Amino acid sequence: MNEADTDRMSALLVERGMCSADRVEDAQVVIINGCSVREKAVHKALSHLGTLQVLKRKGGPILGMGGCVGQLDQKELFRKAPYLDFVFGPDAIDQLPEILHRVEHGERHLLYTDFDASQKYSVETKVFLPQAQAYVNIMKGCDKYCSYCIVPYTRGREKSRTIEEVVGEVARYVSLGVREVTLLGQNVNSFGKGNPNLSQRAPRDLHNCIGKVGPREGDENFPQLLYALDQDPRCQDLKRIRFTSSHPLDFSEELIDCYSSVSKLAFHLHLPVQSGSDKVLQKMGRHHRIDHYFLQMHRLKSLCPGIGLSTDIIVGFPEETEEDFEKTLNLLRDLRFDQVYAFAYSPRPGTRAFQKEDDVPLEVKKKRLALLLKLQEDISSENNARMIGKTVEVLVEGEAKRQHMLQGETSERVWVGKTSCNRTVHFVSGNPWTGCWAQVRLVGASAFSLQGEVLL
Ligand code: 5AD
Ligand code: SF4
Repeated sequence: MNEADTDRMSALLVERGMCSADRVEDAQVVIINGCSVREKAVHKALSHLGTLQVLKRKGGPILGMGGCVGQLDQKELFRKAPYLDFVFGPDAIDQLPEILHRVEHGERHLLYTDFDASQKYSVETKVFLPQAQAYVNIMKGCDKYCSYCIVPYTRGREKSRTIEEVVGEVARYVSLGVREVTLLGQNVNSFGKGNPNLSQRAPRDLHNCIGKVGPREGDENFPQLLYALDQDPRCQDLKRIRFTSSHPLDFSEELIDCYSSVSKLAFHLHLPVQSGSDKVLQKMGRHHRIDHYFLQMHRLKSLCPGIGLSTDIIVGFPEETEEDFEKTLNLLRDLRFDQVYAFAYSPRPGTRAFQKEDDVPLEVKKKRLALLLKLQEDISSENNARMIGKTVEVLVEGEAKRQHMLQGETSERVWVGKTSCNRTVHFVSGNPWTGCWAQVRLVGASAFSLQGEVLL
């Protein structure tokens, strides 16, 4: 989400006639898009801001702090860093041109942190064309209020674009060459809440096993959006639809069915589970249970063999015992995710969990995190090794940052891309591949990526 927000900021500045500087010393404007989901990220943003003070003393760039750090710390940032020119939150990104205009005309310490008060959410996606892949925001905000999470306070209430607006926009980008879209939102499965259902596609039973929550009757909903994108004749050339992120509570039976009935839906799901212990999940305010999560995953795996699965885990939440942590390890052993993003719990001021004592010592958190990551690395390696010998279709993102597969003098380059199941694939070729689809025969694997030979 933050990467997409940063791209949007760049696009707005490019529209204003600016271009990106190669070195920060050469920039006329520097904007930090700060993340506040964990304390470490906030420290990173603030220490980066500190390093820019030297440039500012030499009459350097216009300086802004945005993102969730801007939204949370607001005026306090001007006290910490008086040389900062402006602060803005995620809802004020589109006001960047106006902010810069005002700063260029001598105003300082501008604060743009009001949430957009309108009920409706309408936005125009900005894509740097020609590009085969695009991020498309479909909803914003989060109403889940998990007890550890700062996001509902930094991104505000859930609001969704309409199906008509999203499909129309995707169709336009498909006509301009986009072939893969990633539908973005804090919790995309809640898409449509509050938008009247004008579509003829009647939702079937949208309740999950726990029931009650999820899309309400009469609202547009996420499966409807997927069907609409899949079937709209203007989107015929669209090849893949991805989405992120989801909450298990809104991951409805009907959405699971989409994996067999929406032909463009990528064979991948990122469904954050956070812990393998029901006790911890309850304290996290997640409102879902492990047996339910297992059911969802097993249904999905049987409907869609070979689907790529990933999740998020927090270790060391207050009162997490060794036994709770062992349950999380067992969950990973049983479900054998392809990728796990794991974090040590970080207390966030203003959240409900912040009231609790952060009673798992840092050393224990670190030990649990290392154990979990090691276990997952072994599982990911085994999963990837099983792919060797298969031929996969890869949407090539571009040249790999590290050209480690190349030896000696060669005009060839290492290319990197993703499979439908979201695995990273590297291959060597002398031809340009950015934005193209490649058929790649897999010959090698590690925990984090696959290596292959491109078939011409
Ligand atoms: N501490 C650690 N990890 C957190 N996350 C969210 N809030 C916290 C926190 N306070 C993690 C969750 C979420 C991911 C984006 O970040 O796992 O899914
Ligand atoms: Fe945070 Fe995700 Fe929970 Fe929303 S659903 S509060 S974004 S962890």
